[in-house]
Amino acid sequence: MNSFLTIAMPKGRIFEEALELLRKADFRLPPEFDDSRKLMLEVEQENLRFMLAKPMDVVTYVEHGVADIGIAGKDVMLEEDRDVYELLDLKISACYLAVAGLPDTQLSDVAPKVASKYPNVASSYFREQGEQVEIIKLNGSIELAPLIGLAERIVDIVSTGQTLKENGLVEYGRIAEVTSRLIANPVSYRLKEKRITEIVERLTPVIESLAENK
Ligand code: PRP
Repeated sequence: MNSFLTIAMPKGRIFEEALELLRKADFRLPPEFDDSRKLMLEVEQENLRFMLAKPMDVVTYVEHGVADIGIAGKDVMLEEDRDVYELLDLKISACYLAVAGLPDTQLSDVAPKVASKYPNVASSYFREQGEQVEIIKLNGSIELAPLIGLAERIVDIVSTGQTLKENGLVEYGRIAEVTSRLIANPVSYRLKEKRITEIVERLTPVIESLAENK
């Protein structure tokens, strides 16, 4: 019998869209998936083992090879320079990385502050713009930072734009488009290439047909 292939899945928003995509590609995933608190779930018929991790941690599990493949946002891939292969754009959970702040404000001349969950992305963006800024790393609710005077700008994900709007913030620049990607550990890819390629081949037509029908 084949050994299990382990997939690291991001908990939260991307999880539901990823499950939907897998089911459309005929992966037989039990209903247990939708509301379980278990962090490891095995699907014997498919020889797949799913592990549920924080989106930012999926690349860590895949890089260390405890997960063979995983689903990670392009935002995380841009932020974390990790030794993993990007196999496929799943075209789900589309959003973008943007710079935002209070309306009609300019960056101060001396030591402007930028808050973000993506310090590397933020830092290289402002460097390319020729702006010297101090990056403040936050882990969530980034939109609070300009409201409370911690930072003049934030770098964060914008999906519907609702969070910016409800907090009276505006965009000052778009940094990168983001969708979820299928990633692989390089060693797993070499050793389990056939199984991983099969998964890519099952997903590809579904992704294409969903993109056509958008
Ligand atoms: C993300 C992101 C924004 C929000 C954008 O936060 O950091 O705050 O979603 O979505 P919107 O444009 O549709 O309003 P998330 O809900 O993941 O939580 P966090 O603030 O804890 O990061």
